[in-house]
Formats: sequence, structure tokens, C-alpha cells
Amino acid sequence: MSSARKKLVIGNWKMNLDNGEALSLIAHIEKLISASAKVDVAVCPSFVALELLHEKLEPLKLKLGVQNVHYVDHGPFTGEVSASMVREFVDFAIIGHSERRAMGETNDVIARKVSAAMRNGITPVLCVGENLFERQDGETGQVVHDQLAAGLVMLTGKEVAKTVIAYEPVWAIGTGEIAQPEQVKEAIGSIRKTIAHQYGETVASAVRVVYGGSVVAEFAEEYIKVKNLDGFLVGGASLKPVEFASIVKTVQRQGSKKIAAAKN
Ligand code: PGA
Repeated sequence: MSSARKKLVIGNWKMNLDNGEALSLIAHIEKLISASAKVDVAVCPSFVALELLHEKLEPLKLKLGVQNVHYVDHGPFTGEVSASMVREFVDFAIIGHSERRAMGETNDVIARKVSAAMRNGITPVLCVGENLFERQDGETGQVVHDQLAAGLVMLTGKEVAKTVIAYEPVWAIGTGEIAQPEQVKEAIGSIRKTIAHQYGETVASAVRVVYGGSVVAEFAEEYIKVKNLDGFLVGGASLKPVEFASIVKTVQRQGSKKIAAAKN
């Protein structure tokens, strides 16, 4: 079943780059990578760069995502941007990133945002992960289970199958301290187990699970081989074209190997 899951690399640009810088970054990335039907590659710029990038990028090489959406489609929510406003530009929406959870975003709000993305035809990338204290207290499994169950609660099994889950331990984000392959493998196993328990094995084996937290090119080769891992959510390294392209190329090589192996 794993060979049917398309691998995925998403760059989270966070609150960086003006439109000129964003344009030159995608141009640079596009020069370095080739189109591959076997791997989805997406970047998530600021909302203001979306339309411009959408016009300019090569859709066979790069897709777009957003870093957040609001949970209703329109209304009196000053300063917010809804999924229905960005749906014409993007394929993915990162939801429940730990940097947003730290600003007060609750599981309930996250569940509604996941649902808003889905009903607007955007693939939600639901971020889950424990902080350092939770890991030290042996609570990783429970935290990930609870965030996952709560975040997906408004979706049907069919919709869950189309969702992307990003396992992002908070202590590994922007710190240079990448989780060990064993830790990633364990977390992915428990994510699929939670989904299987709630929605069945077929859904659990269809959902794509990526890892995020200090991913750099140097580690991509080793990590993409972690059992049942489908790709990466890349923060800092996604702003460096050579580094990001190298991660993409590593995943593309691995993606084609797996599919070729499955045919024999
Ligand atoms: P990082 O960020 O790669 O800079 O650690 C990952 C993320 O925040 O998604």
C-alpha cells in the first residue's frame, strides 16, 4: 500500500520574503529541480505573494500552499484570510503549526480549520508534535494521539485519507536538533495506529505522513528511508534554494525507487 502514497516535500517560508524575493526564490528552485509525477513539491509563502507566484511558477514542478486559513469562509473576522479566498491558488494548507498553537490556537479551532480547508478543496497539512517537557515526561504518544484525534474530528474517513499529517516535535523546530530516525519511526507508527483505530486500516495506510523539524539536505537521504514516512515539511532550509532542491531531489530518487520496486 505504501507504494501508492505520493511522496511530498513542503517548504514553509513562515513570515519571510517580500514579493521580489519570493519570485527569485521560486525561479532559483525551479532551475535546480525537474518535474516529477512521483513527488509533490510545494512552497508556502505569505498570503500576499500567492497570486503573483501562482501566475509565475511552473505548475509541473511546484505547487503552492498557505501557512494558515480561517475556519469560516467569510464574515466579520478582521485581518483573517479564509480558505475560500485562497482556494484558486493553493493545493495545501498548513494547519495547527506549533508556532500558531503557541499563539493560542486550540484543538477545537484547528479542527474547524482542517474542515474549512477540506470543504474548499485544499489538502490540510495537520501539524502535531510534543514539546520537550512532554517528551521528557514520556507523554509523546498521548500528546500526538490527542492532537490528531481532535484535529481530524470533523472529517469523514474518506477525507482523512486525503489529509497530510506532519509530525513536528516542537523541540526540533528551528533548533537544529533533528529528531532521531527511531523517534520519527515510532511517532509515525503511532500516528497510523491512532488513525487505524478511529477510521480503519485502509484510511491509515492511505494518509500521508511527513516529518518536520530542522530538516536539512544532509539528513534527507537517511530519513526518507524511515518506514512509512512520505516526505518532509521544511522550514529554514526551504529558504535556501540549493538546500531545498537537494532535499527534493533526494526524495524524488527515493520515490521512483519505491514505485519501481513495487511493480516487480
Ligand atoms: P525548521 O521548521 O525546518 O526550520 O525546523 C520546520 C517547521 O516549522 O515547519
